[in-house]
Amino acid sequence: MALVTTKEMFAKALKSDYAVGAFNVNNMEIIQGIVDAAKAENAPLILQVSAGARKYARSAYLMKLVEAAIIDSGLDIALHLDHGEDFEICKKCVDDGFTSVMIDGSKHEFKENIEITKRVVEYAHAHGVVVEAELGKLAGIEDNINVDARSATFTIPEEAAEFVEKTGVDSLAIAIGTSHGAYKFKGEPYLDYERLKEIHKLIPDTPLVLHGASSVLTEFVDKCNAYGGDIPGAQGVPEEMIREATKYGICKVNIDTDLRLAMTAEVRKFIAENPKEFDPRKYLAPGRDAIQAMVQHKIKNVLNASNQR
Ligand code: G3H
Ligand code: 13P
Ligand code: ZN
Repeated sequence: MALVTTKEMFAKALKSDYAVGAFNVNNMEIIQGIVDAAKAENAPLILQVSAGARKYARSAYLMKLVEAAIIDSGLDIALHLDHGEDFEICKKCVDDGFTSVMIDGSKHEFKENIEITKRVVEYAHAHGVVVEAELGKLAGIEDNINVDARSATFTIPEEAAEFVEKTGVDSLAIAIGTSHGAYKFKGEPYLDYERLKEIHKLIPDTPLVLHGASSVLTEFVDKCNAYGGDIPGAQGVPEEMIREATKYGICKVNIDTDLRLAMTAEVRKFIAENPKEFDPRKYLAPGRDAIQAMVQHKIKNVLNASNQR
């Protein structure tokens, strides 16, 4: 049991049609729920920390909580920086002991993205840490109106091949129609599988990463709304579409929004039904259980990763 890189996890996943779940963590209950789920499913696990998570929980707390999770569970876990925006934050996380960092240079021009990514790769590899980069821009809901405008932001397969060759990056996040948050599509959900297959064909040895992979399940949105929430018109990527993507080189699937919805639904329900309670443990415990149930469901039914540890 240790903090591990994603190298072996991805090498194994690349040969098969399952993906490793990468779940965002922000506090103890979320970490416990996810880790207990991975243990119950005997699945490989990536815990990822965003800049927002570092700001909220503070890095030292998150590091120690993940170390505690490893001791408590006996699992190997990869600790990953999600959407590092520049070299400095990636360096900081490498120095702190993360085993994997993402440099998200997707907002930059192609050449600049290569330069920034290369710099992070050089530093991270020298310290035994692996790197994920991103090419193409995740579509926002406003881009959904115009299919041409939207596909202009998708990852170009030939560029992906050139990018990987020039940067030496370990894995690549691609844009094929997903986006972050609870509002992914206005009309019919759509993922560009042909583009994904082409990318996978050109760089078959590079593990691909799917961000924005939450499905925004109606049951949980409805439960939030039934207990005082106001989340109208939310829509995610149907789970069978994520499952399909794992067949074409997607080795890492990022899920955050679905965990937020699951936890919030249960916390709202508890508080609404128990107005006299004010012990945070009373409502955080069902929130933590909801995270565990959601992660087990994802690992088993969406990522196909049960017993792949
Ligand atoms: O990609 C975004 C993740 O869901 C993290 O979100 O930046 O609010 O922590 P956050
Ligand atoms: P969701 O918002 O779809 O959960 O995506 C999370 C993500 O991509 C984190 O990097
Ligand atoms: Zn993301």
